[in-house]
Amino acid sequence: MNSAKLSLDIEGQRHELDLPVIIGSEGEKAVDIRGLRKNTGVVCLDPAFGNTASTLSAITYIDGENGILRYRGIPIEQLGEHSTFCETSYLLINGRLPNRGELEGFRNRLTMHSLIHEDMKSFFNGYPSTAHPMAILSAMVCSLSAFYPDALDATNTELFDITATRLMSKIRTMMAFAYKKSIGQPFVYPRNDLTYCANIVNMLFSVPCEPYHVDEEIVKVMNLLLILHADHEQNCSTSTVRMVGSGQANLFASIASGICALWGPRHGGANQAVIHMLERIHASGESVDKYVERVKDKNSGARLMGFGHRVYKNYDPRALLIKKAADRVLSKLGIDDPLLDIAKRIEEAALEDSYFKDRRLYPNVDFYSGIIYRALGFPTNMFTAMFALGRLPGWIAQWKEMNEDPKTRISRPRQIYTGHTVREYVPLDDRE
Ligand code: ACO
Repeated sequence: MNSAKLSLDIEGQRHELDLPVIIGSEGEKAVDIRGLRKNTGVVCLDPAFGNTASTLSAITYIDGENGILRYRGIPIEQLGEHSTFCETSYLLINGRLPNRGELEGFRNRLTMHSLIHEDMKSFFNGYPSTAHPMAILSAMVCSLSAFYPDALDATNTELFDITATRLMSKIRTMMAFAYKKSIGQPFVYPRNDLTYCANIVNMLFSVPCEPYHVDEEIVKVMNLLLILHADHEQNCSTSTVRMVGSGQANLFASIASGICALWGPRHGGANQAVIHMLERIHASGESVDKYVERVKDKNSGARLMGFGHRVYKNYDPRALLIKKAADRVLSKLGIDDPLLDIAKRIEEAALEDSYFKDRRLYPNVDFYSGIIYRALGFPTNMFTAMFALGRLPGWIAQWKEMNEDPKTRISRPRQIYTGHTVREYVPLDDRE
Protein backbone atom coordinates (compact mmCIF):
# COMPACT_ATOMS: atom_id res chain seq x y z
CA MET A 1 0.00 0.00 0.00
CA ASN A 2 1.21 3.56 -0.75
CA SER A 3 1.96 5.66 2.26
CA ALA A 4 3.07 9.19 3.08
CA LYS A 5 5.57 10.09 5.76
CA LEU A 6 4.43 12.96 7.93
CA SER A 7 6.64 14.61 10.49
CA LEU A 8 4.89 16.83 12.99
CA ASP A 9 6.45 18.95 15.68
CA ILE A 10 3.66 20.12 17.92
CA GLU A 11 4.73 22.23 20.91
CA GLY A 12 8.02 20.40 21.16
CA GLN A 13 6.54 16.94 20.79
CA ARG A 14 7.66 15.06 17.72
CA HIS A 15 5.48 12.62 15.78
CA GLU A 16 6.63 10.50 12.83
CA LEU A 17 3.65 9.11 10.97
CA ASP A 18 3.25 6.69 8.12
CA LEU A 19 -0.14 7.56 6.65
CA PRO A 20 -1.89 5.52 3.95
CA VAL A 21 -2.23 7.22 0.56
CA ILE A 22 -5.42 6.42 -1.30
CA ILE A 23 -5.21 6.69 -5.10
CA GLY A 24 -8.41 7.11 -7.08
CA SER A 25 -9.06 5.45 -10.44
CA GLU A 26 -8.07 8.68 -12.23
CA GLY A 27 -4.89 9.05 -10.19
CA GLU A 28 -6.16 11.54 -7.60
CA LYS A 29 -4.25 11.13 -4.36
CA ALA A 30 -5.43 11.55 -0.79
CA VAL A 31 -3.58 11.15 2.47
CA ASP A 32 -5.79 9.15 4.79
CA ILE A 33 -5.67 11.04 8.09
CA ARG A 34 -8.15 8.89 9.96
CA GLY A 35 -5.45 7.82 12.44
CA LEU A 36 -4.11 11.34 12.98
CA ARG A 37 -5.97 12.28 16.14
CA LYS A 38 -5.51 8.88 17.71
CA ASN A 39 -1.73 9.02 17.18
CA THR A 40 -1.05 12.69 17.80
CA GLY A 41 -4.01 14.22 19.63
CA VAL A 42 -4.50 16.86 16.91
CA VAL A 43 -7.21 17.23 14.28
CA CYS A 44 -7.23 19.02 10.91
CA LEU A 45 -8.99 22.34 10.49
CA ASP A 46 -10.48 22.75 7.01
CA PRO A 47 -13.51 25.06 7.04
CA ALA A 48 -15.61 24.72 3.86
CA PHE A 49 -13.73 21.45 3.11
CA GLY A 50 -11.62 22.98 0.33
CA ASN A 51 -8.92 20.45 1.11
CA THR A 52 -10.90 17.50 2.36
CA ALA A 53 -12.30 14.48 0.52
CA SER A 54 -15.29 13.40 2.58
CA THR A 55 -15.76 10.01 0.94
CA LEU A 56 -14.67 7.54 -1.70
CA SER A 57 -17.22 7.51 -4.51
CA ALA A 58 -17.60 5.70 -7.83
CA ILE A 59 -20.38 7.88 -9.24
CA THR A 60 -19.08 11.12 -10.75
CA TYR A 61 -15.63 12.25 -11.80
CA ILE A 62 -14.68 15.91 -12.17
CA ASP A 63 -11.32 17.21 -13.34
CA GLY A 64 -11.76 20.89 -12.55
CA GLU A 65 -8.43 21.91 -14.07
CA ASN A 66 -9.36 20.53 -17.48
CA GLY A 67 -13.13 21.04 -17.43
CA ILE A 68 -13.99 17.33 -17.45
CA LEU A 69 -17.20 15.82 -16.05
CA ARG A 70 -18.19 12.15 -16.30
CA TYR A 71 -21.04 10.14 -14.81
CA ARG A 72 -19.98 6.56 -14.09
CA GLY A 73 -17.09 7.13 -16.51
CA ILE A 74 -19.17 8.45 -19.41
CA PRO A 75 -18.35 12.00 -20.58
CA ILE A 76 -21.14 14.50 -20.01
CA GLU A 77 -20.93 15.58 -23.66
CA GLN A 78 -21.86 12.05 -24.83
CA LEU A 79 -24.73 11.77 -22.36
CA GLY A 80 -26.00 15.22 -23.38
CA GLU A 81 -25.99 14.22 -27.01
CA HIS A 82 -27.28 10.66 -26.90
CA SER A 83 -29.04 9.97 -23.60
CA THR A 84 -32.34 10.85 -21.96
CA PHE A 85 -32.82 11.97 -18.38
CA CYS A 86 -34.42 8.62 -17.48
CA GLU A 87 -31.52 6.64 -18.91
CA THR A 88 -28.94 8.89 -17.22
CA SER A 89 -30.80 8.52 -13.92
CA TYR A 90 -30.64 4.75 -14.26
CA LEU A 91 -26.93 5.00 -15.01
CA LEU A 92 -26.25 7.13 -11.94
CA ILE A 93 -28.34 5.06 -9.56
CA ASN A 94 -27.41 1.59 -10.83
CA GLY A 95 -23.86 2.18 -11.99
CA ARG A 96 -24.28 1.18 -15.65
CA LEU A 97 -26.38 1.94 -18.69
CA PRO A 98 -29.59 -0.11 -18.82
CA ASN A 99 -30.31 -2.57 -21.61
CA ARG A 100 -33.55 -2.09 -23.57
CA GLY A 101 -35.68 -4.16 -21.19
CA GLU A 102 -34.25 -2.51 -18.08
CA LEU A 103 -34.82 0.95 -19.49
CA GLU A 104 -38.38 0.09 -20.46
CA GLY A 105 -39.03 -1.32 -16.97
CA PHE A 106 -37.54 1.75 -15.29
CA ARG A 107 -39.61 4.11 -17.45
CA ASN A 108 -42.78 2.14 -16.75
CA ARG A 109 -42.19 2.20 -13.02
CA LEU A 110 -41.69 5.97 -13.14
CA THR A 111 -44.92 6.29 -15.12
CA MET A 112 -46.93 4.14 -12.72
CA HIS A 113 -45.97 6.06 -9.56
CA SER A 114 -46.62 9.62 -10.64
CA LEU A 115 -49.80 10.30 -8.68
CA ILE A 116 -49.53 11.75 -5.20
CA HIS A 117 -51.95 10.81 -2.44
CA GLU A 118 -55.10 12.93 -2.84
CA ASP A 119 -54.77 14.14 0.76
CA MET A 120 -51.51 15.82 -0.17
CA LYS A 121 -53.36 18.17 -2.50
CA SER A 122 -54.73 20.05 0.48
CA PHE A 123 -51.17 20.82 1.60
CA PHE A 124 -50.67 23.02 -1.44
CA ASN A 125 -53.74 25.05 -0.57
CA GLY A 126 -52.20 25.94 2.79
CA TYR A 127 -49.44 27.98 1.19
CA PRO A 128 -49.74 31.62 0.14
CA SER A 129 -49.64 32.03 -3.64
CA THR A 130 -46.38 33.95 -3.19
CA ALA A 131 -44.63 30.94 -1.60
CA HIS A 132 -41.31 30.08 -3.19
CA PRO A 133 -41.57 26.68 -4.93
CA MET A 134 -38.44 25.47 -3.12
CA ALA A 135 -40.19 25.95 0.25
CA ILE A 136 -43.11 23.85 -0.96
CA LEU A 137 -41.00 21.24 -2.74
CA SER A 138 -38.73 20.51 0.23
CA ALA A 139 -41.76 20.19 2.54
CA MET A 140 -43.63 17.94 0.10
CA VAL A 141 -40.66 15.64 -0.44
CA CYS A 142 -40.25 15.25 3.32
CA SER A 143 -44.02 14.69 3.64
CA LEU A 144 -43.77 11.61 1.42
CA SER A 145 -42.24 9.86 4.44
CA ALA A 146 -45.58 10.32 6.22
CA PHE A 147 -47.40 8.54 3.39
CA TYR A 148 -44.86 5.74 2.93
CA PRO A 149 -43.85 4.88 6.51
CA ASP A 150 -42.07 1.69 5.35
CA ALA A 151 -39.40 3.97 3.94
CA LEU A 152 -38.60 5.29 7.42
CA ASP A 153 -36.29 2.32 7.94
CA ALA A 154 -33.32 3.45 5.90
CA THR A 155 -31.50 0.19 6.62
CA ASN A 156 -34.13 -1.85 4.70
CA THR A 157 -32.36 -1.95 1.34
CA GLU A 158 -35.14 -4.05 -0.22
CA LEU A 159 -37.37 -0.97 -0.21
CA PHE A 160 -34.81 1.26 -1.86
CA ASP A 161 -36.00 0.75 -5.46
CA ILE A 162 -39.66 1.50 -4.79
CA THR A 163 -38.82 4.47 -2.55
CA ALA A 164 -36.45 5.96 -5.13
CA THR A 165 -38.99 5.36 -7.91
CA ARG A 166 -41.77 7.06 -5.96
CA LEU A 167 -39.56 10.03 -5.27
CA MET A 168 -38.35 10.47 -8.84
CA SER A 169 -41.83 10.10 -10.23
CA LYS A 170 -43.81 12.18 -7.75
CA ILE A 171 -41.39 15.10 -7.54
CA ARG A 172 -42.62 16.20 -10.99
CA THR A 173 -46.23 16.20 -9.86
CA MET A 174 -45.43 18.04 -6.64
CA MET A 175 -43.38 20.65 -8.46
CA ALA A 176 -46.08 21.21 -11.05
CA PHE A 177 -48.82 21.46 -8.40
CA ALA A 178 -46.73 24.04 -6.50
CA TYR A 179 -46.47 26.07 -9.70
CA LYS A 180 -50.16 25.80 -10.55
CA LYS A 181 -51.07 26.86 -7.03
CA SER A 182 -48.83 29.94 -7.34
CA ILE A 183 -50.59 31.13 -10.51
CA GLY A 184 -54.09 30.15 -9.41
CA GLN A 185 -54.67 27.50 -12.08
CA PRO A 186 -56.17 24.04 -11.48
CA PHE A 187 -53.77 21.17 -10.91
CA VAL A 188 -53.08 19.10 -14.01
CA TYR A 189 -52.64 15.39 -13.33
CA PRO A 190 -49.81 13.31 -14.83
CA ARG A 191 -50.59 11.31 -17.96
CA ASN A 192 -49.32 7.78 -18.46
CA ASP A 193 -49.04 8.19 -22.22
CA LEU A 194 -46.37 10.87 -21.87
CA THR A 195 -42.65 10.45 -21.32
CA TYR A 196 -40.96 11.65 -18.12
CA CYS A 197 -40.10 15.13 -19.41
CA ALA A 198 -43.19 15.55 -21.60
CA ASN A 199 -45.27 14.92 -18.48
CA ILE A 200 -43.50 17.74 -16.66
CA VAL A 201 -44.18 20.16 -19.53
CA ASN A 202 -47.82 19.08 -19.74
CA MET A 203 -48.47 19.34 -16.00
CA LEU A 204 -46.87 22.79 -15.88
CA PHE A 205 -48.23 24.43 -18.98
CA SER A 206 -51.51 22.79 -19.99
CA VAL A 207 -54.92 23.80 -18.68
CA PRO A 208 -57.98 21.53 -18.54
CA CYS A 209 -60.09 23.83 -20.76
CA GLU A 210 -58.14 23.43 -24.00
CA PRO A 211 -55.99 20.91 -25.81
CA TYR A 212 -52.25 21.29 -25.28
CA HIS A 213 -49.54 20.00 -27.54
CA VAL A 214 -46.23 19.16 -25.91
CA ASP A 215 -43.49 20.59 -28.12
CA GLU A 216 -40.78 17.98 -28.77
CA GLU A 217 -38.14 20.72 -28.96
CA ILE A 218 -38.97 21.72 -25.38
CA VAL A 219 -38.85 18.09 -24.24
CA LYS A 220 -35.46 17.66 -25.90
CA VAL A 221 -33.87 20.66 -24.26
CA MET A 222 -35.42 19.78 -20.91
CA ASN A 223 -33.82 16.33 -21.14
CA LEU A 224 -30.49 18.01 -21.81
CA LEU A 225 -30.80 20.46 -18.92
CA LEU A 226 -31.81 17.74 -16.47
CA ILE A 227 -28.96 15.46 -17.61
CA LEU A 228 -26.44 18.27 -17.13
CA HIS A 229 -27.68 18.86 -13.59
CA ALA A 230 -28.03 15.19 -12.62
CA ASP A 231 -24.95 14.85 -10.40
CA HIS A 232 -21.88 16.78 -9.41
CA GLU A 233 -20.14 14.70 -6.74
CA GLN A 234 -19.73 16.15 -3.23
CA ASN A 235 -21.18 19.65 -3.65
CA CYS A 236 -23.06 21.47 -0.87
CA SER A 237 -26.47 19.83 -1.36
CA THR A 238 -25.10 16.34 -2.06
CA SER A 239 -22.89 16.52 1.01
CA THR A 240 -26.00 17.57 2.94
CA VAL A 241 -27.92 14.54 1.64
CA ARG A 242 -25.04 12.27 2.66
CA MET A 243 -24.62 13.93 6.04
CA VAL A 244 -28.31 13.71 6.94
CA GLY A 245 -28.44 10.17 5.54
CA SER A 246 -25.40 9.13 7.57
CA GLY A 247 -27.59 9.37 10.66
CA GLN A 248 -29.86 6.81 8.93
CA ALA A 249 -32.55 9.38 8.15
CA ASN A 250 -34.81 8.01 5.41
CA LEU A 251 -34.35 8.84 1.72
CA PHE A 252 -37.23 11.36 1.59
CA ALA A 253 -35.96 13.29 4.63
CA SER A 254 -32.34 13.23 3.43
CA ILE A 255 -33.30 14.58 0.02
CA ALA A 256 -35.62 17.23 1.45
CA SER A 257 -32.52 18.52 3.29
CA GLY A 258 -30.58 18.52 0.03
CA ILE A 259 -33.30 20.59 -1.62
CA CYS A 260 -33.00 23.18 1.15
CA ALA A 261 -29.21 23.24 0.77
CA LEU A 262 -29.53 23.73 -2.98
CA TRP A 263 -31.76 26.78 -2.55
CA GLY A 264 -29.02 29.27 -1.60
CA PRO A 265 -27.76 31.78 -4.21
CA ARG A 266 -24.18 30.55 -3.91
CA HIS A 267 -25.41 27.10 -4.97
CA GLY A 268 -28.45 26.14 -7.07
CA GLY A 269 -30.24 29.41 -6.33
CA ALA A 270 -27.67 31.11 -8.55
CA ASN A 271 -29.74 30.36 -11.68
CA GLN A 272 -32.52 32.58 -10.36
CA ALA A 273 -30.00 35.19 -9.15
CA VAL A 274 -28.37 35.35 -12.61
CA ILE A 275 -31.66 36.33 -14.25
CA HIS A 276 -32.35 38.95 -11.56
CA MET A 277 -28.87 40.35 -12.19
CA LEU A 278 -29.36 40.44 -15.97
CA GLU A 279 -32.82 41.99 -15.59
CA ARG A 280 -31.43 44.71 -13.32
CA ILE A 281 -28.68 45.53 -15.80
CA HIS A 282 -31.19 45.61 -18.64
CA ALA A 283 -33.70 47.77 -16.77
CA SER A 284 -31.14 50.24 -15.42
CA GLY A 285 -29.22 50.54 -18.66
CA GLU A 286 -25.99 50.12 -16.68
CA SER A 287 -23.14 49.23 -19.00
CA VAL A 288 -21.72 45.73 -18.83
CA ASP A 289 -18.24 47.11 -18.16
CA LYS A 290 -19.51 49.15 -15.24
CA TYR A 291 -21.28 46.14 -13.77
CA VAL A 292 -18.15 44.02 -14.12
CA GLU A 293 -16.20 46.78 -12.31
CA ARG A 294 -18.80 46.69 -9.52
CA VAL A 295 -18.53 42.95 -8.86
CA LYS A 296 -14.75 43.30 -8.65
CA ASP A 297 -15.13 45.80 -5.82
CA LYS A 298 -15.24 43.75 -2.62
CA ASN A 299 -17.05 46.60 -0.81
CA SER A 300 -19.99 46.38 -3.22
CA GLY A 301 -21.02 43.04 -1.75
CA ALA A 302 -21.99 41.98 -5.29
CA ARG A 303 -20.70 38.93 -7.12
CA LEU A 304 -21.00 38.04 -10.74
CA MET A 305 -23.72 35.42 -10.35
CA GLY A 306 -23.23 32.28 -12.42
CA PHE A 307 -19.47 32.75 -12.36
CA GLY A 308 -16.87 30.86 -10.37
CA HIS A 309 -16.75 27.39 -8.95
CA ARG A 310 -14.94 25.65 -6.12
CA VAL A 311 -13.76 22.81 -8.33
CA TYR A 312 -13.70 24.12 -11.92
CA LYS A 313 -10.70 26.32 -12.61
CA ASN A 314 -11.56 26.14 -16.28
CA TYR A 315 -14.77 26.51 -18.29
CA ASP A 316 -17.53 24.43 -16.69
CA PRO A 317 -18.31 21.83 -19.40
CA ARG A 318 -22.01 22.06 -18.51
CA ALA A 319 -22.00 25.82 -19.14
CA LEU A 320 -20.47 25.24 -22.56
CA LEU A 321 -23.25 22.83 -23.55
CA ILE A 322 -25.98 25.03 -22.09
CA LYS A 323 -24.69 28.11 -23.89
CA LYS A 324 -24.85 26.26 -27.22
CA ALA A 325 -28.33 24.96 -26.38
CA ALA A 326 -29.51 28.47 -25.46
CA ASP A 327 -28.52 29.78 -28.89
CA ARG A 328 -30.20 26.83 -30.61
CA VAL A 329 -33.45 26.89 -28.59
CA LEU A 330 -33.96 30.63 -28.73
CA SER A 331 -33.49 30.65 -32.46
CA LYS A 332 -35.80 27.62 -32.96
CA LEU A 333 -38.49 29.19 -30.80
CA GLY A 334 -37.99 32.52 -32.55
CA ILE A 335 -37.15 34.32 -29.31
CA ASP A 336 -34.84 37.30 -29.21
CA ASP A 337 -33.99 37.74 -25.52
CA PRO A 338 -31.90 40.83 -24.71
CA LEU A 339 -30.73 39.07 -21.54
CA LEU A 340 -28.85 36.48 -23.63
CA ASP A 341 -27.01 39.27 -25.35
CA ILE A 342 -26.14 40.92 -22.00
CA ALA A 343 -24.97 37.56 -20.61
CA LYS A 344 -22.67 37.01 -23.60
CA ARG A 345 -21.22 40.51 -23.28
CA ILE A 346 -20.61 39.97 -19.56
CA GLU A 347 -18.88 36.69 -20.26
CA GLU A 348 -16.71 38.30 -22.91
CA ALA A 349 -15.75 41.20 -20.63
CA ALA A 350 -15.07 38.93 -17.64
CA LEU A 351 -12.93 36.45 -19.56
CA GLU A 352 -10.73 39.35 -20.74
CA ASP A 353 -10.41 40.86 -17.27
CA SER A 354 -7.39 40.10 -15.08
CA TYR A 355 -9.56 39.90 -11.92
CA PHE A 356 -11.42 36.90 -13.35
CA LYS A 357 -8.41 35.48 -15.18
CA ASP A 358 -6.19 35.55 -12.09
CA ARG A 359 -8.84 33.87 -9.95
CA ARG A 360 -9.74 31.48 -12.76
CA LEU A 361 -13.43 32.38 -12.65
CA TYR A 362 -15.49 31.08 -15.58
CA PRO A 363 -19.22 30.75 -16.26
CA ASN A 364 -20.75 27.86 -14.34
CA VAL A 365 -23.86 25.73 -14.99
CA ASP A 366 -26.17 28.48 -13.75
CA PHE A 367 -24.99 31.26 -16.05
CA TYR A 368 -27.02 30.35 -19.14
CA SER A 369 -29.57 27.80 -17.85
CA GLY A 370 -32.04 30.47 -16.69
CA ILE A 371 -32.12 32.01 -20.14
CA ILE A 372 -33.34 28.70 -21.57
CA TYR A 373 -35.90 28.21 -18.79
CA ARG A 374 -37.20 31.73 -19.48
CA ALA A 375 -37.51 30.92 -23.17
CA LEU A 376 -39.48 27.78 -22.30
CA GLY A 377 -41.90 29.86 -20.25
CA PHE A 378 -40.76 29.07 -16.71
CA PRO A 379 -41.14 31.84 -14.16
CA THR A 380 -37.82 32.76 -12.54
CA ASN A 381 -38.66 31.35 -9.12
CA MET A 382 -39.13 27.87 -10.66
CA PHE A 383 -35.56 27.63 -11.94
CA THR A 384 -34.04 26.26 -8.75
CA ALA A 385 -36.89 23.76 -8.40
CA MET A 386 -36.01 22.51 -11.90
CA PHE A 387 -32.40 22.20 -10.75
CA ALA A 388 -33.60 20.10 -7.78
CA LEU A 389 -35.57 17.84 -10.10
CA GLY A 390 -32.48 17.37 -12.26
CA ARG A 391 -30.16 16.73 -9.30
CA LEU A 392 -32.51 14.14 -7.79
CA PRO A 393 -30.98 10.98 -9.37
CA GLY A 394 -27.54 12.14 -8.25
CA TRP A 395 -28.71 12.64 -4.67
CA ILE A 396 -30.42 9.25 -4.75
CA ALA A 397 -27.29 7.54 -6.13
CA GLN A 398 -25.07 9.22 -3.54
CA TRP A 399 -27.45 8.32 -0.69
CA LYS A 400 -27.55 4.71 -1.92
CA GLU A 401 -23.77 4.48 -2.18
CA MET A 402 -23.39 5.82 1.34
CA ASN A 403 -26.18 3.67 2.75
CA GLU A 404 -24.88 0.44 1.20
CA ASP A 405 -21.32 0.95 2.42
CA PRO A 406 -20.92 -1.04 5.64
CA LYS A 407 -18.07 1.28 6.63
CA THR A 408 -20.31 4.37 6.69
CA ARG A 409 -20.22 6.11 10.05
CA ILE A 410 -22.36 9.04 11.11
CA SER A 411 -20.88 12.29 9.74
CA ARG A 412 -19.68 14.24 12.68
CA PRO A 413 -16.99 16.87 12.13
CA ARG A 414 -14.99 18.15 15.06
CA GLN A 415 -14.36 21.80 15.92
CA ILE A 416 -11.78 23.94 17.61
CA TYR A 417 -13.50 25.64 20.51
CA THR A 418 -12.72 29.38 20.80
CA GLY A 419 -15.21 30.41 23.50
CA HIS A 420 -14.80 31.09 27.25
CA THR A 421 -12.81 28.72 29.36
CA VAL A 422 -14.68 27.43 32.40
CA ARG A 423 -16.44 30.09 34.51
CA GLU A 424 -18.95 30.06 37.36
CA TYR A 425 -22.71 30.31 36.96
CA VAL A 426 -23.86 33.70 38.33
CA PRO A 427 -27.33 33.76 39.98
CA LEU A 428 -29.75 36.20 38.30
CA ASP A 429 -29.80 38.63 41.30
CA ASP A 430 -26.01 38.92 41.28
CA ARG A 431 -25.67 39.85 37.61
CA GLU A 432 -24.95 43.43 36.55
N1 ACO B 1 -17.83 37.26 -8.67
C1 ACO B 1 -16.80 38.00 -8.19
N2 ACO B 1 -15.78 37.48 -7.48
C2 ACO B 1 -15.81 36.15 -7.23
C3 ACO B 1 -16.85 35.32 -7.69
C4 ACO B 1 -17.89 35.92 -8.44
N3 ACO B 1 -18.89 35.18 -8.90
N4 ACO B 1 -16.62 34.05 -7.29
C5 ACO B 1 -15.48 34.07 -6.59
N5 ACO B 1 -14.98 35.34 -6.56
C6 ACO B 1 -13.71 35.77 -5.95
C7 ACO B 1 -13.83 35.84 -4.44
O1 ACO B 1 -14.24 37.12 -4.00
C8 ACO B 1 -12.42 35.49 -4.04
O2 ACO B 1 -11.60 36.63 -4.27
P1 ACO B 1 -10.32 36.93 -3.31
O3 ACO B 1 -9.37 35.80 -3.55
O4 ACO B 1 -9.83 38.24 -3.77
O5 ACO B 1 -10.84 36.95 -1.90
C9 ACO B 1 -11.98 34.44 -5.05
O6 ACO B 1 -12.75 34.75 -6.22
C10 ACO B 1 -12.26 33.02 -4.60
O7 ACO B 1 -13.63 32.93 -4.25
P2 ACO B 1 -14.20 32.03 -3.07
O8 ACO B 1 -15.50 32.61 -2.60
O9 ACO B 1 -13.15 31.77 -2.05
O10 ACO B 1 -14.46 30.68 -3.87
P3 ACO B 1 -15.34 29.48 -3.38
O11 ACO B 1 -14.80 28.28 -4.02
O12 ACO B 1 -15.46 29.47 -1.90
O13 ACO B 1 -16.80 29.83 -3.95
C11 ACO B 1 -18.64 30.02 -5.42
C12 ACO B 1 -17.34 29.28 -5.11
C13 ACO B 1 -19.56 30.01 -4.19
C14 ACO B 1 -19.35 29.29 -6.56
C15 ACO B 1 -18.31 31.48 -5.85
O14 ACO B 1 -17.51 31.48 -7.02
C16 ACO B 1 -19.57 32.32 -6.06
O15 ACO B 1 -20.09 32.89 -5.10
N6 ACO B 1 -20.08 32.41 -7.33
C17 ACO B 1 -21.32 33.13 -7.60
C18 ACO B 1 -22.51 32.28 -7.21
C19 ACO B 1 -22.71 31.12 -8.17
O16 ACO B 1 -22.71 31.29 -9.39
N7 ACO B 1 -22.96 29.94 -7.60
C20 ACO B 1 -23.23 28.73 -8.37
C21 ACO B 1 -22.08 27.78 -8.32
S1 ACO B 1 -22.41 26.32 -9.24
C22 ACO B 1 -23.47 25.48 -8.28
O17 ACO B 1 -23.42 25.47 -7.10
C23 ACO B 1 -24.53 24.79 -8.90
